[in-house]
Parts: sequence; C-alpha cells; structure tokens
Amino acid sequence: MGRTVQASSFYITTPIYYVNDAPHIGHAYTSVVSDVIARFYRLDGRNVRFLSGTDEHGQKNERAAQKAGVDPQDYVDQYSQNFRTMLDQLNCAYDVYGRTSSHEHKKAAQALWSRLSDAGQIYLGSYAGWYSVRDEAFYDEGELIDGKAPTGAPVEWVEEPSYFFKLSEWQEPLLKYFRQNPNFVAPQSRYNEVIRFVESGLHDLSISRTALSWGIKVPNDPVHTLYVWLDALTIYLTGAGFPDVTSESYQAYWPASLHVMGKDILRFHAVYWPAFLLAANLPVPKRIFAHGWWTNEGQKMSKSLGNVITPAALIDHYGVDQTRYCLVREIQFGQDGNFSDQSVRQRINSDLANDLGNLFQRVLRFINKTTGGEVIAPGIYSKDDETLLQNSRAMIIEMRATMNEQALNKTFDCVWNVIGEANRYVDSQKPWALAKDDPTRMMTVLYVLLATLQRIAIVLQPLMPESAEKMLDMVGVDRACRSFDNLGQMPTIGLTLPEPTALFLRCEVER
Ligand code: MSP
Repeated sequence: MGRTVQASSFYITTPIYYVNDAPHIGHAYTSVVSDVIARFYRLDGRNVRFLSGTDEHGQKNERAAQKAGVDPQDYVDQYSQNFRTMLDQLNCAYDVYGRTSSHEHKKAAQALWSRLSDAGQIYLGSYAGWYSVRDEAFYDEGELIDGKAPTGAPVEWVEEPSYFFKLSEWQEPLLKYFRQNPNFVAPQSRYNEVIRFVESGLHDLSISRTALSWGIKVPNDPVHTLYVWLDALTIYLTGAGFPDVTSESYQAYWPASLHVMGKDILRFHAVYWPAFLLAANLPVPKRIFAHGWWTNEGQKMSKSLGNVITPAALIDHYGVDQTRYCLVREIQFGQDGNFSDQSVRQRINSDLANDLGNLFQRVLRFINKTTGGEVIAPGIYSKDDETLLQNSRAMIIEMRATMNEQALNKTFDCVWNVIGEANRYVDSQKPWALAKDDPTRMMTVLYVLLATLQRIAIVLQPLMPESAEKMLDMVGVDRACRSFDNLGQMPTIGLTLPEPTALFLRCEVER
C-alpha cells in the first residue's frame, strides 16, 4: 500500500515568502507556476502535495516588530496572512501553508539540527564577518561592492560565537551527486552555474546566531538561534511530516519531487540544502527548478522606483485566469521576462478572446441554434474528422512530456495548436453551409468539434481553473469526468447543453 502511494506521489513546493514584504509579481509568479504544475499532476492521477507558506524568523522581523511595538508572533501572524490571501486570490490550491513559527516546524528544524550534530557535522567556533539583515545572508569581504552586499543591501559587521556546519567536507560528495543526477538542477545553465560555484570551493557555514532571539533555539544551547536559512529550508521537510520518518506522509512525500524558486535563491537550494540533507543522511529532493526574474516595462522593480506590480492589481485589471495565463505564457520558464501592459493586452485579446473564446462561442452558439443544444449522434467520420479527433486526444502525450521538464510554455503551446486546428476545421468544414445541403454531415462536424472542445477544456484546467470549469459546464462534461483519463471519451448523445455565455472579454486597446 505504502509503495503504491509513493510511486504516484508528487510533492511540489514554492519558496516560503519573507513575511515583511508585500506580495508582488515575483511571489505571484512562483506560486502560479507551482500551482499549474500541481494541478496538472492531480488531474493526471498523481497523489499531489503542494506546499507554500511564509518565512517568519530573523532579525528583519524582530526589528520590524520592535519598531511597531508588537510581539514578533503577532507581527508575523498578521503579515503571513497577506500571502495566504495572495495565494487564494490567485486561485492557488495549496495543500499545506507552512509557517516557520509553527510548533511542528520548530520540532522538525530542531530534529534536523540534532541529526547533523549526532553525525558530527556541527562544531562551535566564532564568526567574524559581514551580515546583511535584509538578505539574511553572510558575505565575504571580497563579495562586497562599495561596502554593500552584491544585492545592494546594507551589511553590518558581526563578531560572535557561532556553530558551524562542515560544508567544506561536502564539496566532493555534492559534485559527485550533481554528476550522477544531471537533472537535479534545471534549467541546464543553472546546473552548470551550481557546479562552477561548488568547484570554486566551499567554506564551512555559520548556522547559528547569538544576536538573534526571534527564531528557533539550538537544541541544548538556547543562547544560540538557528540561522534563518537552515530554519527556512527545513519547512520542506516539515511539510512532509518530518521528523516522523515512519509516517505515511513522510514515506509518500519525501524526498520532494520539485522545489520551484527564483534564480536569486538557487544556491541555498542547490548547494546548502542537499549538503544538509546528505550530512543528515536524509534523501535529497529530486529536482530543483530556478526560474527567471520579471522586470516591469524593462525596468527592475523596486519600492523606491514605485513600480512594483502587485498580484491584486493584476487580478483587478485583467481577471484571475487572464493573470495566470499571462504569467505562465509571457516568458519561457527559466528565462527572465518583461512585464508590459501592452503585450498582456495583446495576449488576452488574441489568445484568449479570439482564438479560444471565439472557438467556443461560434461552435456552441451554432449547436444551440440548430439543435437547441442537443448532442446528436455523428455519421461516418471523414479523414479530417479523424485527424482532429486524433490530435485533440494525443495532445496530452506531449503535454506530459513537456510538463515533466517544466517547459510550461511548450505544454500550453500544444493546446493552442489544437485550438488553431479546430478553428481552421470550422472554417474549412463550414457547418453553417452544411445546414441546408447536408444536415447529417453538419451533425458529424458539430459532434467532432464538441469532442475537441471538451478535451481542450479538460487540459486547460491547471492553467485557468475558473474559466475551464465554466467551459466544461458549457460543453456538458460531468463533474466526475474531468480528469485527464477522460480525454478519450466522446460527448454523450442526447445530452442538452446549456446556453453558452461569453468567456473572455477583450481588453480595451490602450489609449
Ligand atoms: N524566504 C526566502 C525563501 C526561503 S525558501 C526556504 C525568500 N523569500 S522571498 O519572499 O524574498 O522570495 C520569494 C520568491 O520570489 C523567490 O523565488 C524569488 O526569486 C521570487 N522573486 C522575487 N522577486 C522576483 C521578480 N521580480 N521576478 C520573479 N521572481 C522574483 O527568498
């Protein structure tokens, strides 16, 4: 039983978001992409767990709470809710909302520490160097640019006793692991970058702070608090049920199938994280995907420039499915991308309103007009009918293959290819002309089109859950028959379809 569950399990995570920031397009992007992947595998029959959540400890929050004159727990409770709201607004169907200030996480993080300590991987020393509170990261002197972190964040000199993790011992084992698992880090350019970084040499890593009290205490030495990245990364284990390694949850979901994150935090995930896990004798996640960054109309986004795009504004402006659609299709997953209002409007108008929306409208309105919405049995299929039926049924094969590589834009290109083909089929078969000359043939054409629309609606669910639901209702697919294993089904003869309604409104062209 346990084995079957494990074989079909898929555990996917977003990074957990720093609570003190306001949700922006970067957070929305990681979340939506992960949700599309999670929904895809759920519909494909996998046993999916999808984790998102918030990263709540550290000096940044401790100082902010102090400044606001509130208890840090109250402070993070309030801000963590902003990200939960963002996920809900974006229609992200997470299974676990992990919070580092939770009791179960504290247990998991301390258990990981104890495993590392028992394995002789931790020693007490003292740290002297630069630390950036904003990045919650240590920097070498050589990394500083004009006295600041490479990210532009201010740094402060820190000198304190600290526990260290023997990261330097893991250089060779990591390189060996990367070579044996060439798919561990994607895309390929990031994999190469990680290898180059590890080859350049690893120093032991300071993993505790004494100047910090808002965090998880080091077991048996509560003067020390866990370094926030060690704390934060452990959330992925917490979400799988660690430290209870015998639990059904842990057995099913660990190691994680996929960690999704932005390129800026790849090093933590692809180097430190596997090193901690290998050192603790725990399995390493199967894959790490680092996506690119968004700019706004060609400019880097920042609070000081006042050009930060918030998910709430996008949803307000374009609608939730339109936002999800554009986030996924505007950039090749893994590359950087630019957000431009004009290009988003164009995409909504051409891909959604014209190609997809019109296809549904013209076919469903015509069925409604000619048969009152009743699904009539087809006659004999022509070569063209067979081809469209074959292609609409087979698109899932390539969708699966591209999804397995997280080439999401290609996954949905497959759907738009079929949408284009179906539109051309309508133009060439001219059902409106057949109405008079050959009504039997017209019924066959409409039946083939309806089958195609049903399939399109089924495979669009991960990307646009709300609109796909509406489409599925309109094309008469029963709620119980919406998973991918229904893609070979044909429409039920005799069923009456509801009256079609509009799917996507066109966006006003910019004035
Ligand atoms: N708390 C850490 C992650 C810990 S995971 C164990 C963190 N949080 S974050 O809130 O700063 O970043 C969350 C995600 O947003 C990261 O994947 C980051 O790459 C992504 N983005 C932030 N700005 C972005 C853009 N402008 N564009 C795309 N994604 C970007 O880091």
